[in-house]
Amino acid sequence: MALISSITSREILDSRANPTIETSILLDSGVAVSSSVPSGAAIGKYEVIELRDNNKDRYMGLGVTKAVAYINKVIGPGLVGVDPSRQVEIDEWLAKVDGTDQMERFGGNTILSISQGLARAAAYSLQMSLYQYINSLYAQLGSQVSITRVPAPIFNVINGGKHGAGNLDFQEFHIIPASSKPYPASLQMGVELYHRVRKVLIDKNAIHSVGDEGGYAPNLYTNLDAFEIIMQAVRNTPYQFGEDVFIGLDVASDHFYKKDHYKIRDKQQAMRTDDFIAYLVDLNNQYHLLMLEDPLYGDDWNGWKKLTTQLGEDVIIVGDDLIATNLERLKKAHQEQACTGVLVKPNQAGTLTETLKVIQFAQKNNFKVTVSHRSGETVDDFIADLAVGVQCDYVKFGAPARGERVTKYNRLLSIAADLTHEETSSTSHS
Ligand code: PGA
Ligand code: ZN
Repeated sequence: MALISSITSREILDSRANPTIETSILLDSGVAVSSSVPSGAAIGKYEVIELRDNNKDRYMGLGVTKAVAYINKVIGPGLVGVDPSRQVEIDEWLAKVDGTDQMERFGGNTILSISQGLARAAAYSLQMSLYQYINSLYAQLGSQVSITRVPAPIFNVINGGKHGAGNLDFQEFHIIPASSKPYPASLQMGVELYHRVRKVLIDKNAIHSVGDEGGYAPNLYTNLDAFEIIMQAVRNTPYQFGEDVFIGLDVASDHFYKKDHYKIRDKQQAMRTDDFIAYLVDLNNQYHLLMLEDPLYGDDWNGWKKLTTQLGEDVIIVGDDLIATNLERLKKAHQEQACTGVLVKPNQAGTLTETLKVIQFAQKNNFKVTVSHRSGETVDDFIADLAVGVQCDYVKFGAPARGERVTKYNRLLSIAADLTHEETSSTSHS
């Protein structure tokens, strides 16, 4: 196996015009790879810490030169001569050298840029596709899964909350093609509906702009109006709602939870947990959601338990801010039956190994797993391979528009083609 010759890093920009980290790994065989890391807006307080310079004179304090210096001067030199396929060991070493619970010293962003890069370098070296290599790492951790399909995509077509320039409180309104459809057909459906949503918004004079994840960010009277727009868009196609296509919602309620109350534009009065749960149950009666993410505040455990008791049989109740891709929080959610699905974001966990461990626990305990991007992204498509490598249930990469989102959907197209090819050649050989 080729060994690491150098690890170097630099400050680049993400899709929201904020600095982020790009790290390059060179092996002594001449293999050279890079990896870059995303950044959230709705950052959960339980995720690993992003190291930022906090120097107000540069990029409003968001520069990452300290992180880059750690890689170039401390961590990188420490890994020269090491075999990059020792992923688990190196990831554990990185977490140990950092030495803090939430990677405050080096930053989860710093560490993840190396961790992802190691996997990519090792995969290249072994002449494996990245998804196959991740699948083999997952097997090393004790989870043998065979790769048969591309996970079902969730398209975020209307952006509100912290991501939208419009006036909606809820963060993401999703279109979800039936998971029985092959990926290329789902992608086509997502794209056609995305364009239809735009048309409906234009006809209603509500088009405003696009949000951080490429979905439209309209001004509407209520949050529920966004569902009406989507329903209208579906009616303008041959697709059947509830059969070919479903809807989902990321409430991201931490954003409008203040002083024990949930305040949204649909209701004059701020609501206590029980009233907000009743509102969400009502909403589900009307729109039959497939998935409901972060319906309640991330520390409102009792509320989560109540909601999951009421809706968990019909709707996938997804913890994003609740779990923050943190194994301990996922274990707690399992014990308390607080949700039935988990969002997985590698940059909340800090290393690939830790991310795989979270997915492993979730899969063993029957949580539905969605591998997800962040609102601030780069053109790195690592998470597409991760999703396939562990055979998760869903992927959430934003709207099927904007380069940093599309590159991930396109990577899945290429993997889907690989898988079809393998299937055809294995049947023709037998
Ligand atoms: P974030 O949003 O990347 O801003 O955290 C994504 C999400 O909440 O799912
Ligand atoms: Zn979310």
